[in-house]
Amino acid sequence: MSAELRLDNIVAGYGARAVLHGVSLDVAPGSSLVVVGPNGSGKSTLMRVVTGLIRPQSGRVLWDGRDITAIDAPGRARLGLGYVPQEANVFRNLSVLDNLKLGHEFIASGGAKALRQRLDAVLALFPEIVPKLNVAAGLLSGGQRQMVAMGAALMPSPRLLALDEPSAGLSPLNASRLFEVVQRVAQTGVTLFMIEQNTRLGLDAADQGLVLVAGQVRARAPSQELLANGQLQSLYLGAH
Ligand SMILES: Nc1ncnc2c1ncn2[C@@H]1O[C@H](COP(=O)(O)OP(=O)(O)OP(=O)(O)O)[C@@H](O)[C@H]1O
Ligand SMILES: [Mg+2]
Repeated sequence: MSAELRLDNIVAGYGARAVLHGVSLDVAPGSSLVVVGPNGSGKSTLMRVVTGLIRPQSGRVLWDGRDITAIDAPGRARLGLGYVPQEANVFRNLSVLDNLKLGHEFIASGGAKALRQRLDAVLALFPEIVPKLNVAAGLLSGGQRQMVAMGAALMPSPRLLALDEPSAGLSPLNASRLFEVVQRVAQTGVTLFMIEQNTRLGLDAADQGLVLVAGQVRARAPSQELLANGQLQSLYLGAH
């Protein structure tokens, strides 16, 4: 199948220092890929390369086969690449409804009718936040806030949603609930690219997994295969 997103031999880092040493990967339309790996292996750096927040030193980022390496983060958002950062991913002083509306207005065109349709679709996906529409997003629980952040990113109908550590800061119970919501999002057909600290939850929620170690791809396989690989688990992924 053709790739929606492809990274081709990416070398990237900060200043002259490379953190990623030739990373290649692809994500097929409608599929989900989770990147796991030890602390400091370069997961967040990889996310920044995908979303356009840092420019690689070499290598290419391709979107439907088109080279988008030189396109910045807002430009990629307009192409249909949605992004939920790990932190500061909602406007805490604004209501849930206003967060969702802003998510639409930043990127999508179309009038009130288009906005209404997208609101209905997003709220159908996250019924948990419907009773909270007029509450300031900063007053929600961590899990509810992640739903608002994902909802806002989904408002302009992105084709791919990039999620940075969606379970960060959540209790184990709330993290597993959040991944049920992530799977709901995947079922709508949107492509998912995520990085996740919680190896087991992340792999359970995605079709494909990629293990990043010291800035290189150590393994790439269907998630269930990686979960069943005891050696990989004990070497790199800890006993989650
Ligand atoms: N803004 C930055 N400036 C300079 N070096 C950085 C920056 N961000 C990360 N690094 C360095 O890049 C390397 C990889 O960091 P990165 O944050 O990508 O790893 P990670 O896999 O996301 O780790 P974690 O699991 O702890 O979040 C580390 O050595 C880190 O110190
Ligand atoms: Mg990180």
